[in-house]
This record gives sequence, C-alpha cells and structure tokens, in this order.
Amino acid sequence: MNILVTGGTGFIGSHTCVELLNNGHQVVILDNLYNSNIHVLERIGKLTGVTPKFYETDIRDKEGLKKVFEENRFDACIHFAGLKAVGESVSKPLFYYQNNIEGSLNLYECLIAYGVKNIVFSSSATVYGDNFEAPFKEEYGRGTTTNPYGSTKLMNEIIIEDLCKANEGMSAVLLRYFNPIGAHESGLLGEVPNGIPNNLVPYIARVAEGKLDRLNVFGDDYDTVDGTGVRDYIHVVDLARAHVKAVEYADKHTGCEVINVGSGKGYSVLEVLHAYEKACGKTLPYVVAPRRPGDIATSYAATDKAKELLGFETEYDIEKMCADSYHFSVMNPNGIE
Ligand code: NAD
Ligand code: UFG
Repeated sequence: MNILVTGGTGFIGSHTCVELLNNGHQVVILDNLYNSNIHVLERIGKLTGVTPKFYETDIRDKEGLKKVFEENRFDACIHFAGLKAVGESVSKPLFYYQNNIEGSLNLYECLIAYGVKNIVFSSSATVYGDNFEAPFKEEYGRGTTTNPYGSTKLMNEIIIEDLCKANEGMSAVLLRYFNPIGAHESGLLGEVPNGIPNNLVPYIARVAEGKLDRLNVFGDDYDTVDGTGVRDYIHVVDLARAHVKAVEYADKHTGCEVINVGSGKGYSVLEVLHAYEKACGKTLPYVVAPRRPGDIATSYAATDKAKELLGFETEYDIEKMCADSYHFSVMNPNGIE
C-alpha cells in the first residue's frame, strides 16, 4: 500500500515508518517538524534502505495539504500528527484544539475529497478517563477526559466514527495506546522530549544520564502493589508493528473499530525505576513527591480485541524497553542530530 504518515518524523511515527517499509509498504511522510527533526529521515533510510518522500507541511495549512494529495495517490493514512503534552494543553487549550481538531478536520476533508478510504488514528488510553477499572476494555466506551489533550483524542474518535457512518466504504481503526516507551534497538530512533520531560521513562533517562538529580515519584499512597502508580508500558517497536497490522486490517474491512494497544500488564513507578537501574547498571536516586493532579492509580489494557482482530501481541518486556531507551540516550546525548 502507499501510505500517508502524518507526524511520521515523530517518536511513534518514525518507528512505524520503519516497520511499514520493512513489510513492503511505501510511505510518504508529512510533518511540520514542530516536535521532530529532519535527520530522522536519514535514519529511517539507514534502517530500511529507503528514505521516504517528505513534505514539511502543517495540517492546519489547507493549501499545503491539498498539494500533498494532488501529487500522490494514497491507499491509506496513518494519522499521528498532533500535540501531546497534557500539562501544556491545560495552559494552551486553543493551540491544542487548533492543531489536533482543526488540523485533523482539514486532513479528513482531503481523505474524503481524494477517495482515501482507510485511516488509522492515534488515540489514547486517556479516553477511558477515571470512570472504569483496569483492565480497560474497548466496549466500556469513553469516560470523562480531564484535560484538553485528552478531549482532542476523544473528539477525534467521535469525528472519525461519524465519517465512517456517512461515507460508504470508509474504514478506520482507532488505536488506543497505553504507555509507549523504549527505542529502536539500533539506537538510531527514539524519543527526544523538549526541555524537562513530563513522562516517567524519559525523566528516568535524564537521571541516568546525570542531567537531572533524582526522580520525583508522584505519590506512594495509591492502592497498588507498592503504593505508586501502575501503567501498561509498551515497546514503541511493538506499537509500530500494531500499526502495520491495523492498516492492513483497515484495507480489508469497512466501518470503525476501536482497539487497545498495550501489553496487558501493569508496572508500578518503582518497578520501572528498578528495571531501568538494571539496564544502566546504576542506582538511580528518587524522592516521593505529592500525587500529580489528574493521575489515576492503575491503568492497563484488555488485549483480547487486538489479538482477535489484528493477530497482535507484544513481544518485548520491560527490561528490553528500558535497555533500548538507555541505549538510545547513550548514543544520542544531544538528541537526533
Ligand atoms: P511526537 O510529538 O514525537 O510526534 C508527533 C509528530 O507530529 C511530531 O513530529 C510533530 O512535529 C508533528 N506535528 C505536530 N503538530 C503538527 C501539525 N499541526 N502539522 C503537522 N505535523 C505536526 O509524538 P508521538 O509520541 O510520536 O505521538 C504520536 C501520536 O500518538 C500523537 O497524536 C499523540 O498524541 C499520540 N499518542 C502518544 C502517546 C505517547 O505517550 N507518546 C500516547 C497516546 C497517544
Ligand atoms: N510519574 C512519576 N514521576 C514523573 C513522571 C511520571 O512518578 O516524573 C508517574 C506518574 O504519576 C504515573 C506514571 O509515572 O503514575 C506514568 O506517568 P507518565 O506521565 O509517563 O504517563 P501517563 O500514564 O500519565 O500518561 C501517558 C501519556 C499521555 C496519555 C496517557 C494515557 O503521556 O499522553 O498515558 O494514555 F494520555
């Protein structure tokens, strides 16, 4: 298939491009490089032998988008492009709605106008809110989101479902990611957060590199194995493989499916910290800090639907996730240059 990958130079998008190319698909990347780097293209080229065609385009730019669709014929679109910082979305809601909603609407308009029937969308476990008990099952539906970022994911799910109802032959897979971490085992691709990281593993990575003093563990009084928050971590390469299966599934079906992508297992903050210590061979300091507003105690996925519909299961465990994350940070002390 010839696949348009929006946000394809980003963390999950770049790994997905590698898996798509290695599975015989063609990709065209569209990204405005707001949170990624042009050198990612060369690295995808190194890993696959193919440097993808690239458009530096913003999905808020209708004319720019139109040009991409005029110049290519796509069988499918995997839509990663968007902003993802929960805290920033609270202080800049309009920026988030403009990028993640208005930009996505422009993209969907083009998909329909140019007859691209298959779409895979990056949703998030955040749409379950704090309304349900783990394991989160797709059939629970959507809960109450607690920040504009989460609301943009929930709204996109509803918009795509409506588009599938209105446009015969349209096919969508809404992938609800749990917590993607890790990096490509080559050390060529990985996550490069801007400034001080908000997420657990990128923060631990900075502590391991000696760039931050210690980890703040947000709460140790949750009803969990050791009192710290429990999440379902998934290796980014496993997540990338799920996208290959999802886009191939979309091509053979019509309608809209919501599918969780996680390992089905939960790890506490301290368990992840200890796995990372093993990976880097150092003891990493931490202090217990107050709970972070909006956090829930436990989140992990029900994985039966991914297995049944996509034949997808994760391969990599938490040790491999931490080892690959550490390897990437050692190989790229200044990010992707
Ligand atoms: P990322 O920031 O690394 O990648 C997103 C890419 O989109 C970046 O390269 C950025 O430059 C690009 N982009 C942003 N706004 C754009 C715009 N207006 N036009 C064109 N390009 C634009 O993030 P990621 O971790 O790879 O996440 C990919 C998708 O998955 C996002 O939609 C994110 O919300 C979603 N998601 C991520 C996580 C996570 O924990 N990483 C969890 C659930 C869902
Ligand atoms: N945590 C710490 N210290 C830190 C950072 C995180 O203790 O410095 C804890 C959190 O309290 C939580 C766990 O580590 O218990 C994981 O936190 P992350 O910020 O890494 O991940 P979240 O589960 O909060 O959020 C992630 C994505 C969101 C997405 C959400 C639900 O970052 O985009 O999963 O899918 F919305």
